[in-house]
Amino acid sequence: MNKTNQTVVVLDFGGQYKELIARRVRELHVHSVILPGSISIEELRDMRPDGIILTGGPHSVYREDAPHTVKELFEIGVPILGICYGMQLMAYTLGGKVTPCEVSEYGTIETFVDDDCPLFCGIEREFSSLMSHTDFVGELPKGFKRAAHTADCPTAAMYDEERGLYAVQFHPEVERTKQGMDILSNFLYKVCKLKGDYSIDDFIEREVKRIREQVGDRSVVLGLSGGVDSSVCAAILEKAIPNQLTCIFVDHGMMRKNEGDEIEAAFKGKSLNFVRVDAGSRFLKKLEGVSDPEKKRKIIGEEFVRVFEEESSRFGGSFLAQGTIYPDVVESGLTTGAVIKSHHNVGGLPKDTRFVGLVEPLRSLFKDEVRALGRKLGLDEKLVSRQPFPGPGLAVRCIGEITKDKLDILREADFIYREELEKAHLRYDQFFAVLTNMRTVGVMGDGRTYNYVVGLRAVITSDFMTCEYAHVPYEVLDRVSSRIVNEVKGASRVVYDITGKPPATIEWE
Ligand code: XMP
Repeated sequence: MNKTNQTVVVLDFGGQYKELIARRVRELHVHSVILPGSISIEELRDMRPDGIILTGGPHSVYREDAPHTVKELFEIGVPILGICYGMQLMAYTLGGKVTPCEVSEYGTIETFVDDDCPLFCGIEREFSSLMSHTDFVGELPKGFKRAAHTADCPTAAMYDEERGLYAVQFHPEVERTKQGMDILSNFLYKVCKLKGDYSIDDFIEREVKRIREQVGDRSVVLGLSGGVDSSVCAAILEKAIPNQLTCIFVDHGMMRKNEGDEIEAAFKGKSLNFVRVDAGSRFLKKLEGVSDPEKKRKIIGEEFVRVFEEESSRFGGSFLAQGTIYPDVVESGLTTGAVIKSHHNVGGLPKDTRFVGLVEPLRSLFKDEVRALGRKLGLDEKLVSRQPFPGPGLAVRCIGEITKDKLDILREADFIYREELEKAHLRYDQFFAVLTNMRTVGVMGDGRTYNYVVGLRAVITSDFMTCEYAHVPYEVLDRVSSRIVNEVKGASRVVYDITGKPPATIEWE
């Protein structure tokens, strides 16, 4: 391995938090890579790691079908931290005993530090940690000391300082372990004695080099939606291979007000070939008479692929770039086998493709790392901090059949809502207007009106899997409502959505 930074190797034994561990290490300014737990000791040695972390995993180490390792791993000469299953694997391999818990621990558990193990230097003697285990280390391997316990787990942490072996039963990488970052930091800086020589600049340098090596002098085609991921992907590709990149922006006509032009303005004039395909009327035609939400989504998804294929057919022999980020990979079950929801951009190239390969520069990053990268690459803050926008766009916010008139009403109402929130310096995780398919009677001046009801939504969430509705101040809602009914022709009533997820979803369709 061409080593430019000190590196911690995260050995994967099937834990769902492996990327999170690797990311925490990077947050602490140490470069990290994830490798399979089955890697040979020779290969591992060749990488010259400066520290090793063993991940958790769903197995019972004393079962034959569990992933095992060899004693030599623990003689490799660099400090090792075992987490959860990684701790049990360490104990089992070195002659300790792992047995089923009498009381399994799941959730946040009070944890007590027992001695002055370097991992707990500066840590409060009692802290809460996230536990999730049905086995525990019942007997320590020779040379180890117990470092922490909980009410139901006598060995919440153990270590052998002489051999540089450390292990914790809990998950220091998750937020629910208070002081988890301090514990990881102690491992990196007090135990491994690392310098902390990694930053996002290193990521850029490394990735630029990797992209150049992968692509050579071929061209690359990227489907640009204007969202954070594809925009940052475009920016790093442009840096790596200027003049070899074509970005295809399929405008399906269901973007928010001015959005298509803003995306064009952000990317036009750079050293990339920007192609905007105005396919709005084509999409509208396909959607004529369709009001079922799933059908609408399906039609848009299929039409999108068709337009993209037509436009990219000129680029046979090129690479296809995608802004896939790590949570997409996890949700699509590529790491664990459990599909949460399928993402169209995960899972490799289709078989009958004209492209020669996939370029995915952001595949190991989390959303906030992608944003940080975008800023570093000089992208406009507006693009980088853009709230999520669903692939089918306003189609899932325009209830019932989609028509150009309804989309226009929605676009105007949504624009006013966003403008007023911005003026009031209110920035929720996601906020938008919805055009319901319902019309109600109203009165304006002396006349009767019969126009659409606009719904407003604003949510607070960190993972978008659950959310609470935001308590937008009444004065702001007042202003939005009054502007919408006065300024938007076709809208005569405004309601605010006060439902969380679950039971609702964030989008209305
Ligand atoms: P729901 O409505 O399922 O949305 O609570 C959760 C988050 O996902 C976004 N969303 C989508 N994003 N393609 C996307 O790229 C889609 O088809 C899609 N549908 C929902 C939604 O905006 C929210 O942030």
